[in-house]
Amino acid sequence: MDYLQIKKVKSLKGDIKISGAKNASLPLIAMTILAKNSVHIKNLPNVADIKTLLKLLSNLGAECSFHDDRVIVDTSSLAQTKAKYDIVKTMRASILVLGPILTRFGHCEVSLPGGCAIGQRPVDLHLKALEQMGATIYIKSGYIEATAPNGLKGCDIIFDKITVTGTANIVMAASLAKGITTLTNAAREPEVVQLCEVLNSSGVKIEGIGTAVLTIHGTDSKLLDIDEFSVIADRIEAGTYLCAGAISKDELTLTNVDAGHLGAVLSKLEEMGSSFSITEDTITIHPSKIIKPVKITTQEYPAFPTDMQAQFLALATQAEGTSIIEEKLFENRFMHVSELQRMGADISLNGSVATIKGETPLSGTDVMATDLRASSALVLAGLVADGMTNVHRIYHLDRGYDALEKKLGAVGADIKRLQE
Ligand code: EPZ
Repeated sequence: MDYLQIKKVKSLKGDIKISGAKNASLPLIAMTILAKNSVHIKNLPNVADIKTLLKLLSNLGAECSFHDDRVIVDTSSLAQTKAKYDIVKTMRASILVLGPILTRFGHCEVSLPGGCAIGQRPVDLHLKALEQMGATIYIKSGYIEATAPNGLKGCDIIFDKITVTGTANIVMAASLAKGITTLTNAAREPEVVQLCEVLNSSGVKIEGIGTAVLTIHGTDSKLLDIDEFSVIADRIEAGTYLCAGAISKDELTLTNVDAGHLGAVLSKLEEMGSSFSITEDTITIHPSKIIKPVKITTQEYPAFPTDMQAQFLALATQAEGTSIIEEKLFENRFMHVSELQRMGADISLNGSVATIKGETPLSGTDVMATDLRASSALVLAGLVADGMTNVHRIYHLDRGYDALEKKLGAVGADIKRLQE
């Protein structure tokens, strides 16, 4: 297994190119199941989760080919409708094939994704909405078995909770359904917006894109003609590197990035003392020499994203004062805290609230990544910890960060990928 060895950074300087968004790429790849033609996707990030989903589609009979700046996915020969446990267990976002397969073929079996490190991660809202659209759903020996022999019917759906992949699943299911589906309490994340925009330009009329109420006019089983598109920039990868500039107090420029997707993150970094120069596709962070403490509550977009909670918690260990971070989306998303405490951080947990006493010098040691964003928080801590930090189990990191050690190394970090 690989691990990352990080030495305390002298200074970071230069530009980091942001990759395509993992969480936009996954639903967009699942969406190819709705296409009659082969689909050209540009700017896919080179991360494990994308490879996993493409492998899942290939196992179902799709053809995925890699070219210099794009992946071409052709699902016209897709024959299988059973997504097996061995792949789904490695990536719970595989649930995203349920809606498209069901709406196209009238039946689908997907292994229940099960929980993950950060929480139980139920999919009850996905299933309840599909049943409202006319599907019959059984859970049998760990599999979701969904059938809709006469196809899905549009209807009015209200999500009890805002769910990102739940919204994507139902938007895709509704795309080939008979009639109109309204989805209230829909997720508004930029990744969901791009999925709706691509579908809307492929013959599925969708109203309310970017709002909490989506109206999807189904094509009644007519497959879609999907033009080539490029995946939006990864706002979480971008936020992570902005935190690298803030924690090391060095100026960094991000390229290929959309500051419009980072409002809450930029505003919290400003509260902590940083300022920014922003153009259409770049962000330069001008960090302050003194990091101010901060109060953060994670919420759905456009509020502060849960996927940036761990990174800000690492940054808060260096603030002059006490910060409070409340995690409201996932019940177990503080596993990076115990690893940071082992590096000397002064953090106390009370339920979903972390209190971080700043100005604690961190010392490098062996630490263990527990989930994707926790991994990046440990890397950030390693940049400012005295001595050497070894971050183990970085297969978690590789799920969602494209060449992180190369990108940080190129701007001056002393970071190496080694074998255990
Ligand atoms: C997406 O997960 C992201 N993953 C997550 O990013 C992100 O943390 C999360 O949204 C929240 O922003 C992808 O897009 C692939 P949810 P998702 O359904 O869709 C509850 C990362 O680091 N819920 O929006 O699975 C759920 O328990 C990953 O890149 C139900 O109760 O999250 C949670 O409390 C981690 N029933 C809340 O809703 C359901 O049927 C939000 O979950 C579905 C969700």
